Amino acid sequence: MNYKETYAAWAADPEGFWGAVAHDIDWIKPPERVFNPDAGVYGRWFEGATCNTCYNAVDRHVEAGHGERAAIIYDSPVTDTKRTITYAELLDEVATLGAVLQDIGVGQGDRVILYMPMVAEAMIAMLACARIGAVHSVVFGGFAATELATRIDDAGAKAVITASCGIEPGRMIDYMSLLSEAIDIATVKPIGCLVLQRDAQRCELTAGRDLDWAEMMAAARAAGRWAECVEVAATDPAYILYTSGTTGEPKGVVRDTGGHMVALQWTMKNIYGVNPGEVFWAASDVGWVVGHSYICYGPLLAGCTTLVYEGKPVGTPDAGAFWRVIEDHDVSVLFTAPTAFRAIRGQDFEGKLLAEYDLSCLRTLFLAGERSDPATLEWAEAHLGVPVIDHWWQTETGWAISAIPMGIEALPVKHGSPGVPMPGYDVQVLDDAGHPVENGTLGNIVVKLPLPPGCLPTLWNADNRFLSSYLNEFPGYYATSDAGILDQDGYLHVMARTDDIINVAGHRLSTGAMEEVLAHHDAVAECAVIGKADALKGQLPLGFFVLKSGVNRPDDEIAAELVKLVRAKIGAVAAFKLAVAVPRLPKTRSGKVLRGTMQKIADAEAYKMPAAIDDPAILDEIAEALGAKGLIG
Ligand code: COA
Ligand code: AMP
Repeated sequence: MNYKETYAAWAADPEGFWGAVAHDIDWIKPPERVFNPDAGVYGRWFEGATCNTCYNAVDRHVEAGHGERAAIIYDSPVTDTKRTITYAELLDEVATLGAVLQDIGVGQGDRVILYMPMVAEAMIAMLACARIGAVHSVVFGGFAATELATRIDDAGAKAVITASCGIEPGRMIDYMSLLSEAIDIATVKPIGCLVLQRDAQRCELTAGRDLDWAEMMAAARAAGRWAECVEVAATDPAYILYTSGTTGEPKGVVRDTGGHMVALQWTMKNIYGVNPGEVFWAASDVGWVVGHSYICYGPLLAGCTTLVYEGKPVGTPDAGAFWRVIEDHDVSVLFTAPTAFRAIRGQDFEGKLLAEYDLSCLRTLFLAGERSDPATLEWAEAHLGVPVIDHWWQTETGWAISAIPMGIEALPVKHGSPGVPMPGYDVQVLDDAGHPVENGTLGNIVVKLPLPPGCLPTLWNADNRFLSSYLNEFPGYYATSDAGILDQDGYLHVMARTDDIINVAGHRLSTGAMEEVLAHHDAVAECAVIGKADALKGQLPLGFFVLKSGVNRPDDEIAAELVKLVRAKIGAVAAFKLAVAVPRLPKTRSGKVLRGTMQKIADAEAYKMPAAIDDPAILDEIAEALGAKGLIG
């Protein structure tokens, strides 16, 4: 079947479609009912069925005779290490770690925070949680202690798994002191922390709280401990992943167990066109949804080899790093963020480093996480000579809403479009009043309910927030908070967020959360944060602040303090380095800050004078302040 036929088959009978796909998963109790529209907030997939994700990702491949196949390749230029873990070895690691967790007191349904760098043990920890029915919540290493504490509290974490350090080019991330600070701040106190000591920088363990990973694993092995796969309901949460919301409080996106496996298994073959035994590399981080779906679960469910890369696209050691990894490990499909390619292109525009490697193994490049600019896309196409596929998705969906499904049909690529809607997603574009707009007209991109398997059924302990964040605005639809166009050929064009989320180096950040931090500074009366266009990272946060009257300190001094404050409260990942003092903020007569207009000024774009503006002269003040700092354009 081609794309059109496949999509039509799904649209004609969604339950029949997903029910058939579900046969590719090994269930303990197979689903009797594919979808129950009356369960949960908008219905639940595979209610009544039971299963185990680790069994499907690991055990079944060993049982099928593929124990010697590579499951994980760990490639770390920052520690100069390469390691291959076969499926049989992975089974031994996860069953042993599962037993260690059980012995600490972690049981089915308990939440475990994972705060780890890009090492194979991060994957082992995720799978060990899945094996014993515990719910992991991975926190990206670039977040500060306060963000970690928020997640420990919201998830009600029973235990934490961490490492002694993360390694960023030129500096060490001291996970242990960040974790200790977070536990001090948090109300919930985990019963224990399992710590992977890394040679690059070991850490002190706190007696009575911290346990050494290697020692615990050795002891469990000596005692013959081995955790079997625990039977969980298909509707039980597999994991919680926090993502930026419109306030400082992150949203706990819940992923269910059965639907997650069904959806990911389908995508590996049909979207990515990858076969069991092939090497699939998602150059992202386990802290993001891409890492969950396509470093960890997707490739392993499909019996592929996945790559855990602890390095950067540039600087570890140079812009040829990706090509070296592809050649060394025979990578068939690469998935990364456009930012990574912008960084490589910026340092090796001619592709001289690229020419030094044999990339004949590479079949397709997939890009997601932010809008792909055509220049980068064209550069990648010209230099790699393989199809470059932009596809669009969100933490909430867990897999692509739109793509070119390479395993079904290599439809023509349109630069600037992340492809066509995938089966499961009835994508529509509505105006603000909820009416469908004509093809080719910009509007709110929504997905008609129910969302397909694998998408979030709700937010952790927050059904009402789920409703108010996603379902209430357009009744009967999931609001993506992305604005875009469906063109005459059925291709989507995703243009911008409709909320205060910005995208910095493929990382999703809330300007609202940054404003909350700035507003806490003693000298700041008012503030606003916008996303300013950036040639490398797509966008960069840019803060404006108005000083309280009577404050007589230099603007630059306050700006430097604000930069420090955001780094301390949110983390280095916020990449907040630009703060500008202004006399006033432009507002509407009802007091709404005109962030959109400020953004246009910062990006040197034409703008229409907002009709409801209180005092147009303030826009000149903004331009003047930005101009004085060389920040326009
Ligand atoms: N742990 C701790 N700190 C981290 C981190 C981690 N895992 N990842 C990033 N950081 C830090 C960086 O060191 C940097 O700190 P600095 O301000 O002291 O330099 C800061 O967070 C901002 O990081 P980033 O925006 O990623 O910039 P960078 O300069 O380190 O790297 C790129 C630039 C383009 C090379 C990098 O952004 C990249 O590879 N992006 C790929 C995007 C991606 O994979 N996105 C995931 C979605 S698919
Ligand atoms: P995240 O939840 O971190 O994956 O971020 C999701 C958001 O990133 C989306 O809502 C979009 O705004 C943006 N995004 C992701 N992929 C794309 C893409 N291919 N094109 C345009 N925007 C994208």
